[in-house]
Amino acid sequence: MSKWASTMNTSKVEPTHLAQQDFTENAGLPDIEQLTKLANELFTALPCDGSRLGQASSLIAGGSASPLASAASQQDFALDGDAVLQKFFAKSASPYQQVPDSLDTSPVFANNSANTSAGLASLDKSVLAGILPNDFGLPDEAQLQQLLVSRVFTGSSVPSLDTVEQFSAPDVLKPSIRPQDSDAQLQKLFSDNARYPNSVEGISESSQLFNGFDASLIAGLSPKAYGLPGEDELQQLFATSPKVPVSTSSGSSFYFLDEIKSEGFNAPALNSGHPAFDVQAVRRDFPILKERVNGHPLVWFDNAATTQKPQSVIDRVSYFYEHENSNIHRAAHELAARSTDAYEKARDTVAHFMNASSSSEIVFARGTTEAINLVAKSWGQQNIKAGDEIVVTWLEHHANIVPWKQLCDLTGATLRVVPVDEDGQVLLGEYQKLLTARTKLVSFTQVSNALGTVTPAKVMIDMAHRVGAKVLLDGAQSVSHLRVDVQALDCDWFVFSGHKIFGPTGIGVLYGKAELLESMPPWQGGGNMIEDVTFDKIIYQPAPARFEAGTGNIADAVGLGAALEYVSKIGIDNIARYEHELLVYAMGALRSISGLRLIGTAAEKTSVLSFVLAGHSNQDIGVALNRVGIAVRTGHHCAQPILRRFGLESTVRPSLAFYNTHDEVDLLVTTVRRIQSGKDF
Ligand SMILES: Cc1ncc(COP(=O)(O)O)c(C=O)c1O
Repeated sequence: MSKWASTMNTSKVEPTHLAQQDFTENAGLPDIEQLTKLANELFTALPCDGSRLGQASSLIAGGSASPLASAASQQDFALDGDAVLQKFFAKSASPYQQVPDSLDTSPVFANNSANTSAGLASLDKSVLAGILPNDFGLPDEAQLQQLLVSRVFTGSSVPSLDTVEQFSAPDVLKPSIRPQDSDAQLQKLFSDNARYPNSVEGISESSQLFNGFDASLIAGLSPKAYGLPGEDELQQLFATSPKVPVSTSSGSSFYFLDEIKSEGFNAPALNSGHPAFDVQAVRRDFPILKERVNGHPLVWFDNAATTQKPQSVIDRVSYFYEHENSNIHRAAHELAARSTDAYEKARDTVAHFMNASSSSEIVFARGTTEAINLVAKSWGQQNIKAGDEIVVTWLEHHANIVPWKQLCDLTGATLRVVPVDEDGQVLLGEYQKLLTARTKLVSFTQVSNALGTVTPAKVMIDMAHRVGAKVLLDGAQSVSHLRVDVQALDCDWFVFSGHKIFGPTGIGVLYGKAELLESMPPWQGGGNMIEDVTFDKIIYQPAPARFEAGTGNIADAVGLGAALEYVSKIGIDNIARYEHELLVYAMGALRSISGLRLIGTAAEKTSVLSFVLAGHSNQDIGVALNRVGIAVRTGHHCAQPILRRFGLESTVRPSLAFYNTHDEVDLLVTTVRRIQSGKDF
């Protein structure tokens, strides 16, 4: 029973479809509305991208989210005791591992290409032999056809008896489904989330249901005609799907969610299904990349400012508002259960993504800025006093300077700054000198937003801990480019913003070690963060709720969860490898332009290509690039100290993401060359 249960009405919500039951039983039919719903559930459970999802759900009106999808994602397909699945997924990891250093950028399904060694073509076909959707508790092509037929014949509303009889499908079904069995059987087959993906027993029952169906009824109908994957595609997608993040929560349940979960309200499966990293396939997931700017295709090189959103994130946020929207944690009604479930599942996803040891170490905030302010106001005001020192580096974004300077001004502590060398690399010797018994906190960025420098975070964290200082790591620019493992890093806090990692704006994360969060006082007061309130005394919730006063950004937290799932499916290591190759290529090309000075040339860097061009203002360059559709940031990038370290007030800053291409880099370089040579374009 959850911590919320004592204040909740835990009565179970009755299924709304029961009103149909008499009608269908009298007719000797399975419940048509249920069949419709179940067909929809099957389709949404299939690995598919957003467009397919859209087609399927518009075809099948009234569809709800899929319990199968839920089972697939929540149980990760790697279910205990299922030797077949485990063997299968063990093999399926290989395509990702085979991604070469130099990545092929040909389309993902270009099986005819000689360059598809990292893709499906390289997949050992023997791995697929004998592996059928049924093995995963999914319908095969014939079963899908049958379900489609029932939909096609019945239309979008419950049919009259006449309509049903006319097509004789019920007669075909009658021998295998007795009226009194239909609900129970169907529920057993499709709604039993816990058993479905690995229940061989359930599968054989399911195939019996379709025995004797008149095949002539479905001649010419195919799942592919409905934008659904066929049997062959299903095999490929399952063979190559990486594991979906597993909830790390300790089985947290929210008041009556346990009961309601069994009703199967789960978000659409957000599968991207890329067999291996392929930039063209990735680009198709981002609808905004089809935009044209000034008559040219958009080239989004402003990723350090914010990233674009894949369709799966857009769909997930829409789905939330269409099916789940409610305030969380504090009501006994069904939508509150759905939204709480979605929100807490997103927290689990974040925890898993950054390898936190528990979901309770994850606090949702508005973004990196708010998360840093939270620590400064809460832990900082409690622990920092006159004479203490806070250490930051020259690389910091203003968000990681201003709150600490404010805290120093408030408490009489001193801000110390670690210098960097000419390439923009932290001078570790100087850092060591600054670390003393007075150092109470070190707060630094893992990746510089202005230069792209990757700091030696683990080394710096260990050095700080040796003098007893706490460490906050700013992951705003690292999280979308590098694997983050907060336990391996051993940082005390880690912060990032959802919008920098293909998620929505207005949502971000503060990770904090459990005991540390428990020791920190709330920084804002209000609803949601209290256990009990009287005029004499307030008892606060434990973390993370105690730091989430008021109504948070629920939908966008859910969207952030979808973004992290998306990134996990592509594979952060694949992303890092591809981006590194692109960065090296772009640095080399830009360097060849006379008069161009790259700012930030650290040996370890990612994504950012800051530069200035002799004889041209940064603003003019930004405007000229925009004329050919290229979006870059010009200005101080909220990092004035580091630019001034290089004698500058601003730079032009193209910044890369994994959907950028070599062709886009070529266009950037050609255009900068033309600007440099004074040519009109
Ligand atoms: C390194 C770094 N820290 C902090 C921030 C602040 O992030 P937000 O504005 O999303 O709170 C940014 C934003 O660009 C950043 O790059």
